[in-house]
Amino acid sequence: MIDEESDLRLGRILLTREKIAGRVREIADEITRTYSGQEIVVVGILKGAVIFMTDLVRCVGNEVDVRMDFMSVSSYGSSSESSGVVKIVKDMDTYVEGKNVLIVEDIMDTGLTLSYLRDVIGARSPKSVRICVLLEKPERKKVENEIAYRGFIIPDEFVVGYGLDYAGRWRNLSDIWCVEEGRRGP
Ligand code: IMP
Ligand code: MG
Repeated sequence: MIDEESDLRLGRILLTREKIAGRVREIADEITRTYSGQEIVVVGILKGAVIFMTDLVRCVGNEVDVRMDFMSVSSYGSSSESSGVVKIVKDMDTYVEGKNVLIVEDIMDTGLTLSYLRDVIGARSPKSVRICVLLEKPERKKVENEIAYRGFIIPDEFVVGYGLDYAGRWRNLSDIWCVEEGRRGP
C-alpha cells in the first residue's frame, strides 16, 4: 500500500506498449473464437479499463456482434487499496437479461471489486458473465474470481499507465510503469 502523503515518481517500465499490444491481440483472438456468431456486451469499468477496452474491442473480429457499455464503481477507503465495500457510481445502460456479458477491468488486486461486480451483474439473469483483466496481482488476492481472459500476472507493485492511475495521474502513458516512493521534502 502506498502512503498518500509521499511523493511518487515514475520508476521503471514494467510492460512496454509493444508487449501490451501483442497480448491484447491474443486475448481478442480468444474472445473472437469464444463468441463467434454471438452478441457480447463488453462492460468496461471506468476509468482504468478504458484504454485497454478500446484497444481490445478493435482487435475482436467482425464475426462477433460487440456492444459497449460502462460502469463506474468507487471503493470506500484510500485510492490505493480496496476496502471491499463497493458503490455503483454509474450503472450500465444495457438491459443484459439473456445476453453474454464480458466485464473488462484494468487490474485485479484483492479481487473484491470484481467479485462484487460479478454478483451484481450475475443477478440480472445474463446468458453468461465472464471477466477479462489486463493485470492480476495474485499476492494480494483476498477472494477467488474465475478469470476467463488475463493479460499479465504482475508482482505486488503499484503500477500506472495504459489507463491505470495513481490519484488520477498517469493514465495516458502508453507503457505500464512501476511508481517509486520518495519522501516529500520540507
Ligand atoms: P481490488 O478490488 O482490490 O481488486 O481493486 C481493484 C482496483 O484497485 C482497480 O480497479 C484499480 O483501480 C485499483 N488498483 C489496484 N492496484 C493498482 C495498481 O497497481 N495501480 C493502479 N490501480 C490499482
Ligand atoms: Mg483506479
